[in-house]
Amino acid sequence: MTATMIDGKAFAAGLRERVGAAAATFTARAGRRPGLAVVLVGEDAASAVYVRSKGKATVASGMESIEHRLPADTTQDALIALVDALNADDAVDGILVQLPLPRHIDEQAVLIRIDPDKDVDGFHPVNAGRLATGMDGLVPCTPLGCILLLKDRHASLSGMEAVVIGRSNIVGKPMAQLLLKESCTVTTVHSRTRDVAGHVRRADIVVAAVGIPAFVRADWVKPGATVIDVGINRTDAGLVGDVDPAAAEVAGAMTPVPGGVGPMTIAVLMRNTLVAAHRRAGLPAPEGL
Ligand code: GUN
Repeated sequence: MTATMIDGKAFAAGLRERVGAAAATFTARAGRRPGLAVVLVGEDAASAVYVRSKGKATVASGMESIEHRLPADTTQDALIALVDALNADDAVDGILVQLPLPRHIDEQAVLIRIDPDKDVDGFHPVNAGRLATGMDGLVPCTPLGCILLLKDRHASLSGMEAVVIGRSNIVGKPMAQLLLKESCTVTTVHSRTRDVAGHVRRADIVVAAVGIPAFVRADWVKPGATVIDVGINRTDAGLVGDVDPAAAEVAGAMTPVPGGVGPMTIAVLMRNTLVAAHRRAGLPAPEGL
């Protein structure tokens, strides 16, 4: 068997198209464009690339991009003062502070200061709590992108065995919550799990987010399973996911790296900004996103 490769790039392009159309409707109704503020502290090269891509995607979606680039020696107090100013600015619907922050800044202290209703990364504990309790909130972009791909592949995820590999606050934990919300039976495996292969072998859905090249071996994958590879590992052999590409011989469907989950993250960030703008303006949530 050879897996259907899930085309995240095409799905993300479609999502961005729908967001762009809904953003135009918002602008006509609200008399202003949705606005996303992105804050970059320091000169990390990868972060600078991400921030540029986010700014471009924001403008391409018909939204206002507000960029703040601060020097690497910016104090935590100065960064928090900027977050406070963005919280108070009515033209700003979404705030994203690019991670990682320089070592002298406490990331949690900054993230907790962002207005939860502008927290388009979904990293604030209030949004984590809303997700865990089934309230409307903002959901982290990468796991939400994975769910959109899964729901595109399966009409219902109800009753499926899902195994999430990794327990980060950014991917693993919110991913498990989202799968639970879809009525999957969810297992989270991590570095202390005794028999990772044994768990993965039972899974109808595997989401790999460990950051170890080709960690999930082909012989761990149940024939026909849907495999979502969140890994983006830069190796001498180029960009490699967390799943051995040979797993595509066993899986029913699988995301490639690159071109799978990666393109979804920014598309979902655009979606989250649009959703935040609607909620802040008291407008009903846009449909079909
Ligand atoms: N750095 C790497 N990924 C992310 C992300 O999704 N959000 C933020 N804020 N920083 C990141």
